[in-house]
This record gives sequence, C-alpha cells and structure tokens, in this order.
Amino acid sequence: MKKLASFLISGIMSASAVVTSVPFNATMAESAEYTLQDAINLQDFILSRVTGKELNKSFDLNGDGRVDIFDLCLMRREILKKPEKNNDTLVAYFSCTGNTETIAEYIIDMTQADSYIIEAETPYTDEDLTYTNSSCRANKEQNDKSARPEIAKPVESFDNYEVIYLGYPIWWGEEPRIIDTFLESYDFSDKIVIPFCTSGSSGNSTSERNISNLVPIGNQLEGKRFSASASKETVKTWVDEKQSEISDLKKTVKIHNIR
Ligand SMILES: Cc1cc2nc3c(=O)[nH]c(=O)nc-3n(C[C@H](O)[C@H](O)[C@H](O)COP(=O)(O)O)c2cc1C
Repeated sequence: MKKLASFLISGIMSASAVVTSVPFNATMAESAEYTLQDAINLQDFILSRVTGKELNKSFDLNGDGRVDIFDLCLMRREILKKPEKNNDTLVAYFSCTGNTETIAEYIIDMTQADSYIIEAETPYTDEDLTYTNSSCRANKEQNDKSARPEIAKPVESFDNYEVIYLGYPIWWGEEPRIIDTFLESYDFSDKIVIPFCTSGSSGNSTSERNISNLVPIGNQLEGKRFSASASKETVKTWVDEKQSEISDLKKTVKIHNIR
C-alpha cells in the first residue's frame, strides 16, 4: 500500500502542472472500479505520453467535462480507500433463489474476502423448493434432522481461513440441512464464524442455536437476519460492527498466545 501511495503522490506531483481539456468519455464514473494501472494510464494521458493504450473507463471523475489532474487526485483517493484483500476471511453461502447471495456479495465486496458457494451435489429445482407441497425435497430434508444433502465441491484451502461468514436462507425456521453438511465437513474449532441469513419474516435465533450446538466453533459471533430487500447500507452497518468485533477478538487471541 505504501508503494502504491508513493506512486500516486509522485504521479500527481509530476502531472500537477498539466491541465488537459478533452471531450472524451465525459460522464461521471459513479460505479467504476479503478486500479493502479488506470492511474498510470490517466497520468500518461495527462502528460500527453503516447502509449497506444485505450482508456475504456470514464476518467472524468468529477464530471466537469475535462480529464485532468483533479480527476487523478480523485482516482488516487478511490484506490487508496479500497480495503486490502482479506486473505483470512471466507464468505461461504447457500442460496437457491438469490436473496442470500445478494447479501453475501455485499459482504464479499465490503470485506474483500474470498467466496465459496455451498452447492448441492444434486441441485434444488423449483419443485424441490415448493414448500406448500409437504413432500417436496426441501420439506422432507427439514423434517429429518439427520438429513445431510451432499455438497458438490469442497472449499479450497479451508485451513487458511480464520474468519467465516456463513450465509443461508431460513427454511422452516431453521438453517437448511445442507448447512449442517457444510459444518460437519470441516474443523471450525479455531475459527470465528459469523452467521447471516435471509427469510420471509422468521428470525435467526433457532438456526444460530443449532449451529452452535452442532460442531465445536472457536468463536461464533451473533449473526443477523436480513430481508430479501435489505439495502447495502444496512448490510454495511452490520459488517462494520462485526469487523470491529473480529479485530478485537484477534487482538485478544494474540495476547493469549503470547502469554
Ligand atoms: C423450503 C422453504 C422453507 C422456507 N421457510 C421459511 C420460514 O420458515 N420462514 C420464513 O420467513 N421464510 C421461509 N422461507 C423463505 C426463504 O427463507 C426466503 O425466501 C429466503 O430469502 C430465500 O433465500 P435464497 O434466495 O437465498 O434461497 C422458506 C423457503 C423455502 C424454499
């Protein structure tokens, strides 16, 4: 990060005398994600260096119709504020109709964690999920506490993760049985687990109790139930809270290990 910051600062200093007015691609780039390479390209452009590279993103970040040093400053701010990749965090989730997946994607984006989709070896069809039919697959599984639907593929390098956000939909007030398969497939005894779920209206307490009773977990943090339409801001408020709890926990564990 230090190298990146010094490159960006030196780039801005050396380009600071130049103000280039250009008509190209002059819309405000609200959702563009900028990389160090974008900053290099923009700097080259401002300095009128011929590179032959295509500028395929909107670089008029302040939307004033010009691409200049002010845009490079804004880009620098965007790049530096991106959280660093969290290599010790995994967001593992099961989602059949996309609601939990949306929340999981927000969390992945906010924490820069790796992701893992818990997929059934035999995927769930619409018919399997028709809970108004008492004998549909999902209902049968939920009625059998020992049901353990098989998972398609394992997590790569599970041991590398210290923190696991675990997402699922609520099925009949509980976690789907495939979550139990997942929990019983790995050793969570030294992991920090943070459950999250989506539901029509049911809460998360039974599922979180089930999870804590099923396998040994190093630290299970209080999770959260989201509605399908939960906003990114709502998720962010919760994730910030959890990240701060996680960082406190890690400090405690380190102190404990030193002693
Ligand atoms: C078999 C089944 C049982 C469900 N049971 C409940 C329930 O007990 N309470 C509830 O509020 N929603 C229940 N739902 C609705 C889901 O929890 C909700 O639609 C969830 O957001 C789906 O998440 P997904 O899109 O990630 O699969 C159930 C859905 C299915 C398919």
